[in-house]
Amino acid sequence: MAREAISLRPGPGPDGRLPDPRTREGMPDLYAYAHLLADEKRRRPGDDVMSILLAQVDDDGGRVDIAEFENMFWLFAVAGNETLRNGLPGACIALLEHPRAQGELRADPAAMPGAVDEMLRWWTPVMTFRRTATADCELGGQQIRAGDKVVVSFTSANRDEAVFGNAGRLDIRRHPNPHLVFGHGPHYCLGAHIARAQMRALFAEVLARTSALAYAGEPSFLRSNFQRGVKRLRVAWTA
Ligand code: HEM
Repeated sequence: MAREAISLRPGPGPDGRLPDPRTREGMPDLYAYAHLLADEKRRRPGDDVMSILLAQVDDDGGRVDIAEFENMFWLFAVAGNETLRNGLPGACIALLEHPRAQGELRADPAAMPGAVDEMLRWWTPVMTFRRTATADCELGGQQIRAGDKVVVSFTSANRDEAVFGNAGRLDIRRHPNPHLVFGHGPHYCLGAHIARAQMRALFAEVLARTSALAYAGEPSFLRSNFQRGVKRLRVAWTA
């Protein structure tokens, strides 16, 4: 399947540029792989997540069709990639900026689950999301009309002084910690558990193998109003 899909990967055009990766034409290999995977899992289902997803039938007999599955596959690839890629260095910056918290966490590894949530709140890898209002409503004293585009700022919500005392400070024992890093409601992040698991595993290992972490140069950041991204982060450590 992978070989068949990869043979469709586009090369640069006469202008030397690749097609826009945000379009379907930009990544025919990814869509082809999703298509082949869905076909295979429908024909020979196993006990894996993709088979289970494709086998679901809703109350009206509806099932995920292949085109929907292809789009979802794209979503998994993007949502599970860019977010954590920025969450991991962002959480590392949280520890570099707060050496005392770093020390506390080394002394008490059991605090890791709460610390990961707090590092995520402090960094907030996904800064905004946009929604379209389906009905007129009032929110925070603002009139919103059906059809209006509304941007929610997770960054702002996660530093809301009415909710978080000393919101700018990393407090690995913060409790409760009702942050909105993974969104809220029916579209709550599908990968929140695996994201947390990966972050706990990585930082448990890094802290166990080192006695100190510090900056080894200025980090450089992604220019974006969507992902709070890190392009380069040099770290010095003491074994
Ligand atoms: C630190 C890492 C991550 C952060 C900060 C993050 C954040 C978010 C946010 C803010 C949303 C949108 C919620 C909304 O629309 O209201 C979302 C949705 C989603 N995330 Fe994540 N995410 C992370 C990791 C992952 C991973 C690892 C996966 C998959 C392996 C994943 C899969 C998804 C999917 C599929 C959705 C769409 C859910 C839906 O629309 O119903 N995410 N995530």
